[in-house]
Amino acid sequence: MIKFESVTFIRPNGVVALKDINLEIEKNELVTIVGANGAGKTTLLKHMNGLLKPTKGRVLIDGVDTRKTSVASLSKKIGLVFQNPDHQLFSESVEAEIVFGLKNFGFDEREIKRRTEKILEFFGLKELRDRAPLTLSGGEKKRLCIAAVLAWDPDVLVLDEPTVGQDLQNRLKLYEVINELRRRGKGVIIVSHDIEFLWPLQARTIVMADGEILKDGPAYEVFMDRELLKAARIRQPQLAELSTKLSLNFPFKGVEDAVERLLRSD
Ligand SMILES: Nc1ncnc2c1ncn2[C@@H]1O[C@H](COP(=O)(O)OP(=O)(O)OP(=O)(O)O)[C@@H](O)[C@H]1O
Ligand SMILES: [Mg+2]
Repeated sequence: MIKFESVTFIRPNGVVALKDINLEIEKNELVTIVGANGAGKTTLLKHMNGLLKPTKGRVLIDGVDTRKTSVASLSKKIGLVFQNPDHQLFSESVEAEIVFGLKNFGFDEREIKRRTEKILEFFGLKELRDRAPLTLSGGEKKRLCIAAVLAWDPDVLVLDEPTVGQDLQNRLKLYEVINELRRRGKGVIIVSHDIEFLWPLQARTIVMADGEILKDGPAYEVFMDRELLKAARIRQPQLAELSTKLSLNFPFKGVEDAVERLLRSD
C-alpha cells in the first residue's frame, strides 16, 4: 500500500510543492490524478518511489518509510514512467534500455531475453531495437519509457502524462496495458491532462491544486462538479459536459453508452 502521512515538500527555492498531503492507495487500485500545471502532480509521484523525500511527514510503501530504503528497491515495486522521456532514457540502444532495468533487478539471462522480446513486440519497437533512444520521435520515446518499466513488472505502474504524443493505435494500446495490469491485480496510477483519455476509465480521481488535494472521488463525481473543475482549472470531458447540459443523473461513460441511451429515450 502507498501511504502519505501529512506530507509537505518544500523545494530548495522555497516553493511549497506539496502541502500536508494525506493519501492512501491500495496496490491493486486504478487511480488518476489531475490538476493544472504546477499543481504538484509530478512531485507527488516522485515521492512514491523515493526520488523525492518529504520535508515533513512520511511516505510509506508497504509499511516501509521511503527514507529508510533505496530508490532501487522502491522502484522494483513502484515503477515510475517519467513525464519527460529525456530524463529517463540514457542507454545506447532501445534494446539496451529495456535490458538495463531487468539486469538491475537481477533477472537471469533467459528471463531478460524473454521479457525483452515480448515487450519489444507488444509495443511495436522491434524494428527500432538498435536505434539510439535519443534519435526516436517524441511518441516513440514515451512508448519506450513505458515499455522499459513494464518489463520488470512492478506491483504498481505509475504513468506521468502517458498519452503525450501517442497516436490512436498507441492510445488504444495504453488502455490494453491498463486493463491487462488490472486483470492481474496490479495497480495503475496515471497523471494526465488528457481528460478525454481518462474519462472512459471511470477511475478513482484525485484533483490537485497548489500542492493540495482538492477532491478524491469517483470520476463521475469529480468531472460532473463544475465548480470544483473551475477551481482546479480543469476542463470537463465532453461526454460529462453533454451529460450536464442534459441534466442527467448518471453521465454518459462512453460514446456507445451515450448513443444507446439517447436512442432509447426517443
Ligand atoms: N526542478 C524544480 N525546481 C524548482 N521548482 C520546481 C521544480 N520542478 C517543479 N517545481 C515547482 O514545483 C511545483 C510543482 O511542480 P510539479 O512538477 O509537481 O507540477 P505538475 O502538477 O506535475 O505540473 P505539470 O502539469 O506542468 O507537469 C511548481 O510550482 C513547480 O514550478
Ligand atoms: Mg508534471
